[in-house]
Amino acid sequence: MKILLTGSNGQVGFELAKKLNTLGQVIATDRAILNLANSEAVRQFIDQTKPDIIINPAAYTSVDKAESEPELAHQINVTATKVLTEKAIELDIPFIHFSTDYVFDGLKKEAYVELDLTNPQSVYGKTKYEGEEKARHHSKHIILRTSWVFGSHGNNFLKTILQLIQDKDSLNIVGDQTGSPTSTSTLTEVTLKIVDTIFKDKNFNDYGIYHVANEGETNWHRYASFIASEAIQLGLAVKCEPSHIHSILTSSYPTAAKRPLNSRLNTGKLKKTFMLELPQWESEVKKVLREII
Ligand SMILES: NC(=O)c1ccc[n+]([C@@H]2O[C@H](COP(=O)([O-])OP(=O)(O)OC[C@H]3O[C@@H](n4cnc5c(N)ncnc54)[C@H](OP(=O)(O)O)[C@@H]3O)[C@@H](O)[C@H]2O)c1
Repeated sequence: MKILLTGSNGQVGFELAKKLNTLGQVIATDRAILNLANSEAVRQFIDQTKPDIIINPAAYTSVDKAESEPELAHQINVTATKVLTEKAIELDIPFIHFSTDYVFDGLKKEAYVELDLTNPQSVYGKTKYEGEEKARHHSKHIILRTSWVFGSHGNNFLKTILQLIQDKDSLNIVGDQTGSPTSTSTLTEVTLKIVDTIFKDKNFNDYGIYHVANEGETNWHRYASFIASEAIQLGLAVKCEPSHIHSILTSSYPTAAKRPLNSRLNTGKLKKTFMLELPQWESEVKKVLREII
């Protein structure tokens, strides 16, 4: 089986590139090998490589920058997804695509289920939603919506906090946005299970949208405090003790892009369909901290 993977230098793509080879031959592509901004090059690459499945974790992910670069965000998150979808339809192969909690407005009180109405509030969220719509043209699509991604490779909140607690005496972190940090390791395990199921079960017909997140929920302030406490336990010398990490409101921390206050994703459909258990976010954070400290 030939697996075409995009964005193999991103957080999720990097982890997938390491693990997917247990299931087949991985054609791992980064921007230099396969530039998603060049639709014709993408079509040609797929014609030449003839994959059996396409997995697309690549995306324009600079949430705030997208507000001033909407065309570029659209090119990667919408147009490139359309091109990949069309090719997957033409070859009649499954297409696994990643999306985000930012397709929701965050006003719901409970965790979001797959059928909840979307209402993206930012350019990034809108382009990710439009990308979902493109992928859904293919009957063999899996869309994995996830939230607050972290891992040892690439940039993320966990690594930013690790740096900040070494550099600053105190921190102000938003405490009124709720969600579930999700590790690249969990996302990779889930993707592997889905790919394996699709290829083993000849009658597989559970295509569609799935929410994936680690178990449990928190807010950015509690998450930052947890990272700091664990890092200290692992021996990291810090200037900023957890007690000096203060909780502030979203309204007092203006950003170019609006974030949902509630990012919680209900993962019941995924766990039931693929008979999966998802780890708690805290144990995943501890694992990554042990890798990088
Ligand atoms: N990060 C989060 O917290 C989060 C939350 C919810 C959902 N998601 C979704 O999860 C998926 C994976 O996210 P991630 O955190 O792994 O993102 P990431 O670390 O930002 O990686 C995205 C990758 O896409 C690549 N890319 C961007 N433009 C490209 C182009 N023109 N051609 C080829 N590759 C291009 C980037 O390449 P370069 O390395 O060359 O820039 C990067 O390697 C995305 O669909 C994202 O929307 C992420």
